[in-house]
Amino acid sequence: MAAFDVARVHADYERHHGDRAPLFEALCRHIEPESVLYPGSHIDIAPSVAFDHVTYVDSDKKANRFFSDTGAVEELIRSKRDGSSDSFEVDFIHADYREPLDIADGSVDLLVSLYAGFVAEHCGRYLASGGWLLVNNSHGDAGVVSLTAGYELIAVVDSRAGTYQVSTSRLDDHLVPKRGGEPTIESLHASGRGIAYTRSPFAYLFEKQ
Ligand SMILES: C[S@@+](CC[C@H](N)C(=O)[O-])C[C@H]1O[C@@H](n2cnc3c(N)ncnc32)[C@H](O)[C@@H]1O
Repeated sequence: MAAFDVARVHADYERHHGDRAPLFEALCRHIEPESVLYPGSHIDIAPSVAFDHVTYVDSDKKANRFFSDTGAVEELIRSKRDGSSDSFEVDFIHADYREPLDIADGSVDLLVSLYAGFVAEHCGRYLASGGWLLVNNSHGDAGVVSLTAGYELIAVVDSRAGTYQVSTSRLDDHLVPKRGGEPTIESLHASGRGIAYTRSPFAYLFEKQ
C-alpha cells in the first residue's frame, strides 16, 4: 500500500476547499478561545493555525488516517503558524459526533460547525456558557441555531477572494428569509440544507448564553 503523505493529502484538500487559515486568523482578532472543538472537520486543520488547543472529530476513515500521523500533522500545522507560539495541542476523536464524546459538557470555548450537518444541535452541550459558535448555513445548522433559545448572534463573517472579515454591524439584517415564511427546525432537518437569506455571509458567530 502506498504511504499516506499527510502534507500531500492536505495540499489536495486545500486546492479543492481553499485555505481557511485566514478565517480563523480573522476570528482570533475578535475572540480568544482557549479550547476549540471542530466536529465534522475532515482534515481541515485551519483552526490550529490560529488557536492553540483544538479537538477535531470525524467519523471518516481517511480523516482518522490523516490525524493518526500525529508528527506529520503537527509539522504541517507548525509550518503554517507564524512562529509566535510553538506550543499547541491537536487532538482527534474518530467518532460520530451525534454520540456522546469524551469531552466534558460546558468545557469548550469555540465550537465550529462548517459543512458537516447539525453539529451545534448535537455538540452545543460541550460549549461553555459565554462560549462562541462559528456556524455556516450550508446544511441548515445556522438556521437551526437562529431558532434555538440560548444563542445570540454577535457577528457575521464575510468572505471575498480568500479573505475574511468579521463584522458586527447590521446584524438584524441577517437571517431574514429571502422568500416569505420562516423556516422551522423541523423543515430545516427535513431538507438538510440552509434556506436562502437576504444576506449570505460565509458564517455566523453566535454566543452561547
Ligand atoms: C463536507 S465535509 C466538511 C469538512 C470540513 N468541515 C470543511 O469545511 O472542509 C463533512 C465532514 O463531516 C463529517 N461528518 C458528517 N457527519 C458526521 C457525524 N455524524 N459524525 C462525525 N463526522 C461527521 C464527514 O465525515 C466529513 O468529513
